[in-house]
Amino acid sequence: MSTIGILAALQEEIATLLTAMGPDVVTRRIGQRVYHEGQLSGRRCVLVLARIGKVAAAATAVTLIREFGVTVVVFTGLAGAVADHVRVGDVVVAQTLLQHDLDARPLFPRYEVPLLGRSYFDADAQLATLLAQCANDYLGSDYAEEIVSATRDAFGVADPKVHSGTIISGDCFVCDTSAVGLLRSALPDALCVEMEGAAVAQICYEYGVPCGVLRTISDRADSTADIDFNTFLAQVARFYSAGILRRFLMNYSSQGR
Ligand code: ADE
Repeated sequence: MSTIGILAALQEEIATLLTAMGPDVVTRRIGQRVYHEGQLSGRRCVLVLARIGKVAAAATAVTLIREFGVTVVVFTGLAGAVADHVRVGDVVVAQTLLQHDLDARPLFPRYEVPLLGRSYFDADAQLATLLAQCANDYLGSDYAEEIVSATRDAFGVADPKVHSGTIISGDCFVCDTSAVGLLRSALPDALCVEMEGAAVAQICYEYGVPCGVLRTISDRADSTADIDFNTFLAQVARFYSAGILRRFLMNYSSQGR
């Protein structure tokens, strides 16, 4: 049976899942990361705080694959909206991911990962479909009421939606209306921006491990993004990851994969 590696960039994003693992967790410290091995929804999982940025996420993903033998990798966390129709409180599931800050021109085309000959790294299609279904289920459930009302109170936004498509990643927190505008015009298919997903997707591609990336929108990557991000992180984020991933793990198990 497969072992699922679950990564997040921030403690708040894994806190509820960690509690749900219960007391029988084995922890191992490798390269300044603490890996928690245990069961979630009856499925063997390794849960780890990857920290922020592409290098941190890539190094952690390699350790999950090489040291723990995970056969599936899922990254969960927050993102800033890029597309106009994506709003705070929505969920984005990656179908494909790109590093928006990778630029080795004129040696290689913009965004292309040198010597891999590609810019986009696809998430596993089955994982993406299941994550989107679980996000829809969760947002339609009674459990989501508290996050929907917290998001409404803090951001004036209700009726969260689930989107599937392109996620872009780079080593900068996008917090500027013109910067996010540039991303939107250079990469019109981008739904949201974050700092890790495409790096994890590249590692998973190189190791042949299926990858899923799930992001909740905390801000609009504009001049108030830092304030919105911190409010969202403190008040709402933890419920989303746990609510969606618990459903995902139950359904993933029942498919016998
Ligand atoms: N994660 C959440 N919001 C973000 C933003 N605005 N830029 C980069 N990563 C993010």
